[in-house]
Amino acid sequence: MTIHHVSNYAEMCRKAANMISAQILLNPTCTLGLATGSTPIGIYERLADAYNKSDLDFSGITTFNLDEYCGLSENDPQGYYYYMNEQLFNKVNIDRAKAHVPNGTAGDIALECRRYEALITAAGGIDLQLLGIGNNGHIGFNEPSSAFEKDTHCVELDEETIIANARFFDNPDDVPRRAITMGIGTIMQAKKILLVANGEKKKEILQKALYGPITPMVPASILQLHPDLTVIWSDT
Ligand code: PGA
Repeated sequence: MTIHHVSNYAEMCRKAANMISAQILLNPTCTLGLATGSTPIGIYERLADAYNKSDLDFSGITTFNLDEYCGLSENDPQGYYYYMNEQLFNKVNIDRAKAHVPNGTAGDIALECRRYEALITAAGGIDLQLLGIGNNGHIGFNEPSSAFEKDTHCVELDEETIIANARFFDNPDDVPRRAITMGIGTIMQAKKILLVANGEKKKEILQKALYGPITPMVPASILQLHPDLTVIWSDT
């Protein structure tokens, strides 16, 4: 594992965006795994800047987002497809047919999970997966539990996650209780993983994840076993 400890959020985003840019430059038809939440916003800003300066071309890449809330459509401002449109997809020349987010409004969620997993496999797997970490150690929406879930699946969100994510909703009661998420196996099969985290509130869980026992109670702890993990951690 390679850990970059930087002093501020801007530096974390710059380094992470550089690593993603390098991946796209080296392989313009690569497959990226993307994350949502507040942590990656500055990374997407820098990637959009690089596109505007003609330094990056997104037309050949394929992307898979980690997760989506059940019940929120592509047009829902609280949904993750909408987030990706706002933060990145609307700003670059990505081919929408190759930019995938689980469908949270699928009639048959179990079937949607299988479809999503199969799409990732058919794309040849993920070359570089961007990850944040939840306050409870989740990656994607893989919540602390008694076992690591392998494939894309539907989860009941933890109370802690619902409280943490309530800041994105007008009313905390509007936070969906269920979500579709890539599994731990899906994430671990990515050839490279880039984990980003910032701020005092993430410090303790990041320490536990990187140096504590490997346990499904801290889902991110499995990343210790990944052969190509880069962590960019910032104090602020
Ligand atoms: P955050 O979420 O970036 O909004 O802190 C991270 C996560 O829950 O994975």
